[in-house]
Amino acid sequence: MNEQALKQALINLPDDAIEQIVGNVLMLPFFEALGFMTTEIYPQYKTGTGKGKSCNTVDYALRHNKDNSETFLKNPSNPHILVEIKKRNCNLTEGTPQYKETVDQLNGYLLSPNCKTVQWGIICNGSHIQLFRKHGKVIHPATLCLQITPDNVCDIAKKIKQKIDNTLKALTVAIYNSKGGVGKTTTTVNLAAALTLEGKKVLVVDFDPNQRDLTNTFNFKHKKEALSKLLEDKTGTISIKDVIISYAVNFRSPAKTFSFDVIPCDEGLYDISEVQLKQVLKVIRLRQVLDRVKFYYDYILIDSPPNWRFFSQSAVFASEVVLIPTKPNNIFSLENAAITIKRYIREIQEFKKDGSPIALPIFWNGENIPEAQQKTAYAAINNIIKESEKNPDKPFDLSPYFYPRMEKPTTDVTPGRIFEVPSHAHISNAAFSRIPAVYQYKIAREYYLKLAQEYFLQ
Ligand SMILES: Nc1ncnc2c1ncn2[C@@H]1O[C@H](COP(=O)(O)OP(=O)(O)OP(=O)(O)O)[C@@H](O)[C@H]1O
Ligand SMILES: [Mg+2]
Repeated sequence: MNEQALKQALINLPDDAIEQIVGNVLMLPFFEALGFMTTEIYPQYKTGTGKGKSCNTVDYALRHNKDNSETFLKNPSNPHILVEIKKRNCNLTEGTPQYKETVDQLNGYLLSPNCKTVQWGIICNGSHIQLFRKHGKVIHPATLCLQITPDNVCDIAKKIKQKIDNTLKALTVAIYNSKGGVGKTTTTVNLAAALTLEGKKVLVVDFDPNQRDLTNTFNFKHKKEALSKLLEDKTGTISIKDVIISYAVNFRSPAKTFSFDVIPCDEGLYDISEVQLKQVLKVIRLRQVLDRVKFYYDYILIDSPPNWRFFSQSAVFASEVVLIPTKPNNIFSLENAAITIKRYIREIQEFKKDGSPIALPIFWNGENIPEAQQKTAYAAINNIIKESEKNPDKPFDLSPYFYPRMEKPTTDVTPGRIFEVPSHAHISNAAFSRIPAVYQYKIAREYYLKLAQEYFLQ
C-alpha cells in the first residue's frame, strides 16, 4: 500500500468536494490500498431493476480479475463489493437522516438482481466510511461508521482489506428473546432443517446449559469431549471438531439424506452461579470458539436461554444477527423483544465495536391469531414504539423492527404486517418422535422455508 499517497489524497480533498471529486481524489487510491487495480474497478455500475424502481446505478463495483485476459472492467459480471459515495458535506454521522438514507440506498443496491454475488458494501463521503457485509438477504455492519483523518486512513484501509480478504462463509444467528417459552428452541432446530433443504451447511449450538432442551429433545449425545470442556480449555488441546456431532435424516422416496451438525450441551455448566461463571469464562469465549468453523458452515444457529445473563449474552456476542421469536398474545414477549433490541443488543454492540450484532425484525411464533387479537397486539406495539421514540434520554426508533414490511414504516393498525410462523400441533408433537417437524411434515416444511426465505435466503 502506498501509505503516503493515500494520506496525501485525504489532505488534498477539499472540504466541499462533490461526489465525483471524493471518488476520483480519495476513493481511487483507497481502492488501490484495498488491493484493487484499475481494471478491477467499474464506475457507475448498473445494479438492475430494484423493487418498484427503475434501473439503479451505484458509484463503483469492484471485483478481482480472474485472469488478465478477462478483466472486471471489460466483463463487469459477478461484482464482489459495491461502493456508494456522497459529497463531503453530506453528514454521514451515524443516526443522522442522511446516514439513514445512504444506508437504505446501499441496501437497495446490495439486494438488486445484478448484485447477488456481492458480499460487501461501503459508504463514504470523504469524512466518514463504513463497511457492511451481505450474506444472502442479511446486511449487517462490519465496522462502525468511522471518521477518516490523514492519521488513521491507512489503518482503516488495512482493517477493511483484512475483512474483505477473509470473507467468512458463515452467518452466525442467535435465536433470542429474553422472555421464556416463545419458541426459541423450536425455531432454531426447524430453521436449521429448512436451511438444509435449501442445500446449506448448518451448525446448531445448544447454549442453554440450564435446560438443554434442544439436546434432550433430539437425544443428541455429546462425544467424549463436551462443550463445557472446550470453553474451559485454555491450552487449546481440545478442538471444536471434538465436540461437533452430525445429525442425519434419511428420506425413502426420493431417497435423500439431509443433515446438519450440532454442538450439544452437556451438564458441565449446569447451575453454576453467575459470579462463578464470570470468574472462569468470558462473554467473548463462545465467539472465539466458533470463529474456528466460520469458513466451513453457511449458517451457525445458536439456541439461547431466556433472561439476560452470561449464556444469552455470550450467544448474542457470538452472533452477527439476532432472530427474535415473539408471541402476539403475550405483552411481555413484545416488551422483552423491544428491550432486547434497544438495550441488550446495543449493550453488546458497544462492547464489540464493529456495529454487530443487529436485530432482525421480530416475527409472531406459534399462535393462530384472530383479528381482534391482532388488533390488540398492534395497539400494544404502537404504544411501545411511541414510548420508545419519546424517551428523553435515549429516543429509539423501533418501527423498522416491528414493521419491516412497510416501505415507510408507520404505526397504523394493519394486520399482516408482521411475519408469522403459525401454530401447528405437528410442530410441538415432533418433540415426541425426536425428529424436527420440518423433516416430517409438509406443513412445517412450508412454514419454516417461508421463514428462511423471509429473513435469510436471497
Ligand atoms: N409454531 C409452533 N406451533 C406449535 N407449537 C409450538 C410452535 N413453536 C413453539 N411451540 C411449542 O411451544 C413451546 C415452547 O417452545 P420452545 O421450547 O421452543 O420455547 P423457548 O423460547 O425455547 O423456551 P425457553 O425460554 O424455555 O427456552 C414448546 O412446547 C413448543 O413445542
Ligand atoms: Mg428453549
